[in-house]
Amino acid sequence: MSESIQKRKAEHIKWCLTDDVLGEGVTNGFERIRVIHNALPEINFEDISLQTNFLDIPIATPFLISSMTGGAALAGSINEHLARAAEARGWVFALGSTRALIEDEAFRQSFKVRSFAPTIPIVANLGAVQFNYGFTTDMCQTIVDETEATALVLHLNSIQELIQSSGDTNFEQLLPKIEQLVDKLGVPVGVKEVGFGIDAHTAKRLTDVGVSFIDVAGAGGTSWSQVEKLRSNDRLKKQAAEAFKGWGIPTLESLRAVKDAVDVPVFSSGGMRDGIDALKAIGLGASQVGYAKTILKEATESAEAVNEAMAVRELELKMGMFGLGHTTIQQLQQTDRIIVN
Ligand SMILES: Cc1cc2nc3c(=O)[nH]c(=O)nc-3n(C[C@H](O)[C@H](O)[C@H](O)COP(=O)(O)O)c2cc1C
Repeated sequence: MSESIQKRKAEHIKWCLTDDVLGEGVTNGFERIRVIHNALPEINFEDISLQTNFLDIPIATPFLISSMTGGAALAGSINEHLARAAEARGWVFALGSTRALIEDEAFRQSFKVRSFAPTIPIVANLGAVQFNYGFTTDMCQTIVDETEATALVLHLNSIQELIQSSGDTNFEQLLPKIEQLVDKLGVPVGVKEVGFGIDAHTAKRLTDVGVSFIDVAGAGGTSWSQVEKLRSNDRLKKQAAEAFKGWGIPTLESLRAVKDAVDVPVFSSGGMRDGIDALKAIGLGASQVGYAKTILKEATESAEAVNEAMAVRELELKMGMFGLGHTTIQQLQQTDRIIVN
């Protein structure tokens, strides 16, 4: 078991460093958004602040490193680089699936990033489907305790599991199990997809049972049917996966629908490229903006490389806020300078 998790995680990293994993015929939808430039902003650039909250915790920026990895040898160093940079800049850091932490002691260390990131919110991650394969609330509490996480996010990845070899495909009766977890776990529980988006109805069902935040993780960036197609040795699945290259709810569509449907914080992720995508997402009411693939290469290099990539996104967002005439994230969330075509 442990060897296959190790191999799978290493292959995910390898393939996600290429552009072959991008969906085809689907975009994040953000090219449909125009912002109305403000020629007379009447603000001092120096006064612009990215300070905001993650859930109710104050944090220096509205940015999030989306769940990526843990469990493979390389993942340990990737997580250290990400954690150190996130701490330095005030980004939320979401770990990759922490399932391996329970299933094999040897992997525990790769998830223990609190020493590199003592103050920022850390989010642990687990596939919700694992509740149909032996995972319990107690195991989730162990994950939270071991990682010293601020919150836990459950991922919904039905299509990925289906294409993945020996994936877990029984998604029956997960909502009551999510409800049970929400009631018992000592930290807030959120839900995300992995790149195919969440619709309004699903988001509402999740928040009705007490889920604290929704990360839409929409289409337009990494496509997990493409990733698993590339990894698969199963001829039939490989061919069938090809038909899913344009699958998923574009991030823009998912963000708007979910934002309208629920009252909890909604995060925008899935194909987020730069600080201008963040500007647009926050302008549509997103609380946090998450990046996975577009920060992975730097994560394999060093904390300094990640830090620089983060600094560029922050600068882009601040420049965009200057262009609109807003000095705070709260003002940007209420802007009337966003048009969706
Ligand atoms: C290398 C890699 C590993 C990932 N592993 C996980 C994971 O363990 N759990 C999870 O919820 N999402 C995982 N994801 C999905 C991302 O969190 C994100 O939802 C998805 O990649 C879409 O965002 P992007 O277009 O910015 O890459 C992973 C993404 C990448 C690139």
